[in-house]
Amino acid sequence: MAIFMVILGFILLLCTCSTALLRWNEVRYRKKGLPPGTMGWPVFGETTEFLKQGPNFIKNQRARYGSFFKTHILGCPAIISMDPELNRYILMNEAKGFVPGYPQSMLDILGKCNIAAVHGSNHKYMRGALLALISPTMIREQLLPKIDSFMRTHLSNWDSKIINIQEKTKEMALLSSLKQIASKESGIISQKFMPEFFKLVSGTLALPIDLPGTNYRQGLQARKNILSMLRQLLEERRASKETHKDMLGCLMNSEENKYQLNDDEIIDQIITILYSGYETVSTTSMMAVKYLHDHPRVLQELRKEHLAIRERKKPEDPIEWNDLKSMRFTRAVIFETSRLATIVNGVLRKTTKEMELNGFVIPEGWRIYVYTREINYDPYIYPDPLAFNPWRWLDKSLENQNYLFIFGGGTRQCPGKELGIAEISTFLHYFVTRYSWGEVGGDKLMKFPRVEAPNGLHIRVSAY
Ligand code: HEM
Repeated sequence: MAIFMVILGFILLLCTCSTALLRWNEVRYRKKGLPPGTMGWPVFGETTEFLKQGPNFIKNQRARYGSFFKTHILGCPAIISMDPELNRYILMNEAKGFVPGYPQSMLDILGKCNIAAVHGSNHKYMRGALLALISPTMIREQLLPKIDSFMRTHLSNWDSKIINIQEKTKEMALLSSLKQIASKESGIISQKFMPEFFKLVSGTLALPIDLPGTNYRQGLQARKNILSMLRQLLEERRASKETHKDMLGCLMNSEENKYQLNDDEIIDQIITILYSGYETVSTTSMMAVKYLHDHPRVLQELRKEHLAIRERKKPEDPIEWNDLKSMRFTRAVIFETSRLATIVNGVLRKTTKEMELNGFVIPEGWRIYVYTREINYDPYIYPDPLAFNPWRWLDKSLENQNYLFIFGGGTRQCPGKELGIAEISTFLHYFVTRYSWGEVGGDKLMKFPRVEAPNGLHIRVSAY
């Protein structure tokens, strides 16, 4: 009996303390003018609920507080904005004080000249330098031939094998970019580069705990190793005096390039390109394979488009700009995949000063999660939104509507959109014209916080 009383007392004490802590945290953030919402526990906030329940946590909070509410996630107070008009406004108005709000740990690993770390005129300059590397002319003349030659090799000898398509698309996204950056040396450095890059990516997604063995510490170390590899590459190129027709060649060409970057900026620009195109391109490619497998009629239509291109060519002829432009259905498949799988749930911003927004006052330094996931399932924009229906994108107006945030929006809208589409389209070209496939089965797919197959997505491949 005594033991029972002690346990009961302990439980009561725990409940009282928990309620007091929750209440204290609510009061702490009860500043006049803040939007409605809950702040959860001190320090941890509502991170556990957010990560565990994912989109449902956000939908439940919206049902209680509307499309613009406060919370405390991932270590900081934040506003979650689901209102399409407001989201557009925030993305279009960085200059008014909505700068990128990615975690410091991520910026530490990606570098201080990384595009997400720079604002104002510095951002304009780094973005300009990047756009010059991936312009339509560059894609047509320099990048597409490299992408084609890479995909041809990468997608060979898959016949009669079980392939982990998640692993293959990740390698594809990284190595294809590496070839576009340093075409001649990419083959030699890729084996050493790849494991370091994967550690760098894990580090950016980890908690910033700088202790031996943590992903964060390994990410920082991977950055150092990548820096030394890239510095050596720059030195070797300078010493050889050879001209190179690739991204690094353009970045280092101080006579012809109107954007002059120093070595630190060149290196961070390379890391920006590799990092930004890596998970987006690989996951979209993997999910396209998944949806095509589950929707044979779509696969049939896609294959028809690619076989028609092949018929016009000799087997050794590469995919060229005109072929790419003719891939209308492929483009539709890529948009529909990005929409339905929601590869990007939203983007993060941070207020640089106290701001008034939507009638509320947002304190300086708060994160704003411009959450765009739900708009992908809006039945007014996408009738029957849960259906995988690429045909809807053949109506071009859908790509040009104001509430399409698959590639972000405003001043930071994805500059790599067309390059990414070119990579995925070329990947799909060789995949569907060379192979048929079935799923091995039993693999789990996670949709939140990132789309991934925790143990890989295995397919049994045969020649088409
Ligand atoms: C399917 C492929 C892709 C998707 C879905 C995608 C999506 C996005 C999104 C949503 C943003 C906005 C981020 C923000 O506002 O904070 C973004 C920005 C960016 N993307 Fe992409 N992206 C893709 C491919 C690529 C590729 C291949 C590159 C390679 C160059 C790239 C480079 C960038 C860069 C550098 C930014 C930052 C732009 C800035 O801050 O001005 N992306 N992307």
